[in-house]
Amino acid sequence: LKLKTILAFAVGAVFLCAVSAIAAPIVIKFSHVVAEDTPKGIMANKFRDLVAERLGDKVVVEVYPNSQLFGDGKELEALLLGDVHLLAPALSKFQKYTPLLQIYDLPFLFKDMAAIDKFQQGPNGRALLTSMKDKGIVGLDYLHNGMKQISANDPIHGPGDAKNKKFRIMTSDVLAAQFEAVGAMPLKKPFAEVFTLLQTKAIDGQENSWSNIYSQKFYEVQPYITETNHGILDYLVISSTEFWDGLPADVRPVLEECLKEAIVVGNAAAAQKDLDDKQKIIDSKRSEIITLTEEERAAWVEAMKPVWKQFEDAVGKENLEAAIASNN
Ligand code: LMR
Repeated sequence: LKLKTILAFAVGAVFLCAVSAIAAPIVIKFSHVVAEDTPKGIMANKFRDLVAERLGDKVVVEVYPNSQLFGDGKELEALLLGDVHLLAPALSKFQKYTPLLQIYDLPFLFKDMAAIDKFQQGPNGRALLTSMKDKGIVGLDYLHNGMKQISANDPIHGPGDAKNKKFRIMTSDVLAAQFEAVGAMPLKKPFAEVFTLLQTKAIDGQENSWSNIYSQKFYEVQPYITETNHGILDYLVISSTEFWDGLPADVRPVLEECLKEAIVVGNAAAAQKDLDDKQKIIDSKRSEIITLTEEERAAWVEAMKPVWKQFEDAVGKENLEAAIASNN
């Protein structure tokens, strides 16, 4: 009898394990470094909700905002280790994996978001999605945030005003060269540290979109923001090739569809927040917004333009030509 009972238990346990293995949903951890009420935060939550609607209990998306799971620096390593499955880092954060995406960091290259769209939807932009395949990273699609502005402790009008000032940048040599071109001192620092660095005046300024300057409260500790629109802040939604290719064939296309729709929502939020968050900063009266004169803007362009030539080979001449053409 004893043996029979043990056997019955064993069979039961095996059966339960098998059932739970079949029924266990695939968990997709989506980690990011910004707040929830930002283009990326909104896109990630929309994706989670669409997947819940369409894939029911087959797939569960867990979103971790505000660098709470992984911050800059660690998140890409975590993706390759399988500890997280979806990320959307800024395009400036991939230098370790490919030089090609640094095309997006070249100062004054894209005149507006429409030019970026044109480039990203064209053959060169699409090809860049798979530029990190040999490193085990798959680019699923782009997501917008907005053009970058420069915030600082002192008023910055011409490029000379940036001289000898310390600016936080993302991990990109192009961004470093851009600030070095005006005699400034760039410092590569994780996003989660920027507010404290500004507040304690360990650095003098930083560059970011209106959405990030607002949602991270940078404007509360930066009395001046110069509307330079000198570069773009855009994202690449990525997964590891191993994880993405390993998804069941009936699940992956649905996820791709959900992502596409979530990105449309995220891009609409980006366009709206670019206007609204700028206005909220103006209304707060915490920070003065400096508009460049035509001559001042021309001086910035002239000072930073040599960076294009410096990185032409790294980003690919044909990519640079296509990017320039996207402005027409
Ligand atoms: C930054 O590090 O400044 C931004 O890339 C953060 C983000 O993801 O928007």
